[in-house]
Amino acid sequence: MRMLEGIPVSEYAKRREKLLRSLKGSVGIVFGGDHAPPLRGDWDPDFNFLYLTGILDEVGAMVFFDPTAPDPDKRVVLMLRPPNPEMDIWDGFREPLGKELREKTGFTSVMRVQMLPRLMTEAARRTKSLACLHPLAPYTAPVSRDYEMFQKVAARIPGCGIEDKSDLLTQMRQVKSPAEIKQIRAAIAATKVGIERLWSGLKPGVSERTLHQELIRGFEEAGSKRVAFDPIVGSGANAVVLHYKQNDMPTKDGDLMVLDCGASINGYAADITRAFPVNGKFSDRQREVFNAVLKAQEAAIRAVKPGARMMDADKAARRVLEKAGFGDFMPHGIGHHLGLETHDPGLYHEELKPGMVVTIEPGAYLPDEGIGVRIEDDILVTKTGNENLSKSVKKSAAEMERVGRS
Ligand code: GLY
Ligand code: MN
Repeated sequence: MRMLEGIPVSEYAKRREKLLRSLKGSVGIVFGGDHAPPLRGDWDPDFNFLYLTGILDEVGAMVFFDPTAPDPDKRVVLMLRPPNPEMDIWDGFREPLGKELREKTGFTSVMRVQMLPRLMTEAARRTKSLACLHPLAPYTAPVSRDYEMFQKVAARIPGCGIEDKSDLLTQMRQVKSPAEIKQIRAAIAATKVGIERLWSGLKPGVSERTLHQELIRGFEEAGSKRVAFDPIVGSGANAVVLHYKQNDMPTKDGDLMVLDCGASINGYAADITRAFPVNGKFSDRQREVFNAVLKAQEAAIRAVKPGARMMDADKAARRVLEKAGFGDFMPHGIGHHLGLETHDPGLYHEELKPGMVVTIEPGAYLPDEGIGVRIEDDILVTKTGNENLSKSVKKSAAEMERVGRS
């Protein structure tokens, strides 16, 4: 079994204990998710499952929460698929159940998933309350896995109800622990290495693809094993495409480039965007847009503090852009929470609290002029305000004119 590095096993156990208490007697279950197609990269566990266990490679696993189980050691149970020696030849060998596995995972109880129907029925009869922990699906999508299961369980047990507790894990995940913040800082440091490596190869004519490759080489040299998301290396007109992915055009003299990227370290993401002229000199118009976006970003970052909300930061940025004449040119929101996911769960109208990490990334995009600017930093909410975790990555107009080779 492979587990994320960087977070102590005892911290996962504490997260599970906290969730168990927050369930206030209701039964809950968190699914790890099913198999990815063969040869299509790593299996990515459900992020709530990953947050609660750190387990990276147990397809089909789940965590069962039974707060009123008579045996306190069986209140939080890790449930694993049965052994399958023939599949192990393809996917790798799996440990047997036992003390070693309990110590490695920090669970006091590890069972096979075949036990679940019996345990679930006993627990539901005792508690008469089942709590949905996975995000509830919109009506256009399949029903969430736990709700689907609970409907079947409740239909078989008189008086058993189903509750919505899908905010619990979101709220827990939003406030990062010191160990999590350390991983995000490391991801940002690796991202900086990649960005600087890309800059060292920047000059008109070099292709976005070559720069992309330099970026990834930098991430890897700095210890990152995977990207947090596909980087956006967009020059000229491509810079106005918000999630541009092709990264395969030659850069041209006079282009502005938007670079939006993040390395992942021990499962945690960075997400940084810089905009810079490929030839080392902003045109007057490029500089005008750049300065407006930078000013908007500074205003939005100042708005990030305990008790404020992301929508306050959004409004602060839009006020500046409006004044500069670019009010209608930011089609996206001001940012998002950052953590295990690049877009970590979190809502615009919720109050920010110390320990939360958010991105602040205003932009202005003028497709008719082939100018796109976005500037993004990763901001930790502190007791007194905030700390810009990515402030050591150059970003001023003067610095952006000196990053390349021309
Ligand atoms: N960095 C890409 C995004 O936040 O959507
Ligand atoms: Mn972002």
